[in-house]
Amino acid sequence: MERIVITGGRPLRGAVRVSGAKNSSLPIIAAACLAPDVSVLENVPHCQDVLTLQAILADLGVRFEFAGTRMTIDAGGLYRTIPDYALCRRMRASFYTAGLLLARMGRAEVPLPGGCSIGTRPVDFHMKGFAALGAGVATEHGYMKASVARRAKGAPFYVPRSSVGTTINLMLAASTARGVTTLTNAAREPEVVDTAVFLNLMGARVRGAGTDTITIRGISALHGAQYTIIPDRIEAGTYLLCGVATGGDVLAEGLIPEHFQALLGKVTEAGAETVVEPDGVRVRVARELAAVDVDTAPYPGFATDLHPPLAAALARARGTSSIRETVHDSRFAYVDELRRMGAEMKVEGDTLRITGVEQLTGAPVEALDIRAGAAVVIAALTAEGTTEIRTVENIDRGYEGLTEKLRSLGARVERVDDEAIREVV
Ligand code: EPU
Repeated sequence: MERIVITGGRPLRGAVRVSGAKNSSLPIIAAACLAPDVSVLENVPHCQDVLTLQAILADLGVRFEFAGTRMTIDAGGLYRTIPDYALCRRMRASFYTAGLLLARMGRAEVPLPGGCSIGTRPVDFHMKGFAALGAGVATEHGYMKASVARRAKGAPFYVPRSSVGTTINLMLAASTARGVTTLTNAAREPEVVDTAVFLNLMGARVRGAGTDTITIRGISALHGAQYTIIPDRIEAGTYLLCGVATGGDVLAEGLIPEHFQALLGKVTEAGAETVVEPDGVRVRVARELAAVDVDTAPYPGFATDLHPPLAAALARARGTSSIRETVHDSRFAYVDELRRMGAEMKVEGDTLRITGVEQLTGAPVEALDIRAGAAVVIAALTAEGTTEIRTVENIDRGYEGLTEKLRSLGARVERVDDEAIREVV
């Protein structure tokens, strides 16, 4: 088993290059398989969730080349409609194969997904949407089974809770439907826009992505396309919060500054200096952080995926901060891990109260999911002594080259493999 070992107490300084967005890459890789053709994607991150989706689609007959950050996808040979159960259970985004298979093959038998432990996270909205497009939909033996007679039929659909995954899955399913689909209360996240841009390059007719009403005029056949994935705003936000938490000076490079307004507003309020450059954002902290109150919200609000990293950054801020989680039902499992390190945190319903402490101390902790992992990393960077982080595979799901990137900012961090240690002994 691998662990990440961090010795804290050093302010992070320097520049870090942001990778391509995981949460754009996943739907765009699925979208590329809508056409029996070749697509080329640039700036795809080598994180485990991307590799898992690649394995799921390869098993369905899709051929891949993944060299550097360029992924070439040849979906000409896609022939199966039942993705692998064990692989799909590893991550929720495997459910994008449902929209893909319904649009391309007219049927899908997709395992109900797993993923991060951050609340109940059902797929009922997705299934209602597929039914609205004329599919027969049922759940049986751990699978969602959906099929349409020939093609799905465009229809209006109200997206509950402006769900990102539902919005994207229905864009995929509707792309080859007969007629027009209108999604109201659609998610406005940049990853939705990125997927829509790529679909349009494939010949689809998606309009309005980035607003809460998206229309998709279905067409009978799409073709392959070439595209560069947008930078990962959550990865970038994580490194900026590493800088804020350690009282450092971090420049995240190669990103889209307008994605950061909510985060920068809050870190400025907490006492950080922020500088926005054409393709970068810099944060610098020269004094003790002040407490802030944050509500997570769909984009352009404060991203739920930055909630655990922000909580870790506020663990030593002066006063009492609060974070109200409004997107996921429950996202507080990581709090116990931060408490092991001396954080004073209390969950009251949907709100976390954080009373700043003088010092955190290193401890053995777990990365319970991708962003819970980012939270313990940030706490460890600020803590006195050494922190050992287990279940690092959860961090690898969403962060490419985390230890190398942190080391380039001056962190004392290494990955240790227990097996290797045993062999040496
Ligand atoms: N929901 C339902 N039923 C559904 C779909 C969603 O109840 O059928 C609920 C969810 O349980 C959640 C809320 O609606 O409470 C919003 O969920 P949404 O569908 O927007 O989330 P998602 O598409 O499953 C994506 C990201 C998450 C991120 C959320 C919110 C991907 C692959 N995942 O999930 O990212 O937290 O949007 O922004 O894009 C991560 O990267 O670590 C991560 C968890």
